[in-house]
Amino acid sequence: MTTPSPSDRIDIDIEINGRRRTVAVNARDTLADHLRNDQNLNGTKLGCEHGVCGACTVLLDGAAVRSCLTLAAQGDGRTVRTVEDLSRGSSLSPLQEAFKKHHALQCGFCTAGFLMSATELLDSNPAPTRADVVEALSGNLCRCTGYQTIIDAVLDAAGQIGNDNG
Ligand code: FES
Ligand code: FES
Repeated sequence: MTTPSPSDRIDIDIEINGRRRTVAVNARDTLADHLRNDQNLNGTKLGCEHGVCGACTVLLDGAAVRSCLTLAAQGDGRTVRTVEDLSRGSSLSPLQEAFKKHHALQCGFCTAGFLMSATELLDSNPAPTRADVVEALSGNLCRCTGYQTIIDAVLDAAGQIGNDNG
């Protein structure tokens, strides 16, 4: 098999937010670029674009990944979940409701990334301690909130508010 050049187009079979599709992507495109530019899923944000801020976090086969460091072509045969998949119509998910209740966002630029990292945590650990939440969110940066309201929101969504025993 020959190595594709950056300008090559590659057909991939990818499931995004429950819908499988076959699409042609540029070999050089990141998953974030594909989601935002080709799929019109702009909830995923690009901040640093080099793996530091976590704003671009999505779930790839259930695992939180930096979509700025993941090639779209790596999505072939995989399942992607973005922040757009959390709500149902106009109904926010319990996690999103908890962010709203705890004022866990200000400018909102980081929020999709935090929500997806928290979703990965709650999928694998439905009753996390505060320490679990802090660790799970440690790869996401927020310049507005000071983090405590975000941590409280995740604990509340898990029914663990006040659990400081971690
Ligand atoms: Fe991907 Fe910052 S935009 S980690
Ligand atoms: Fe502004 Fe987090 S709410 S960066």
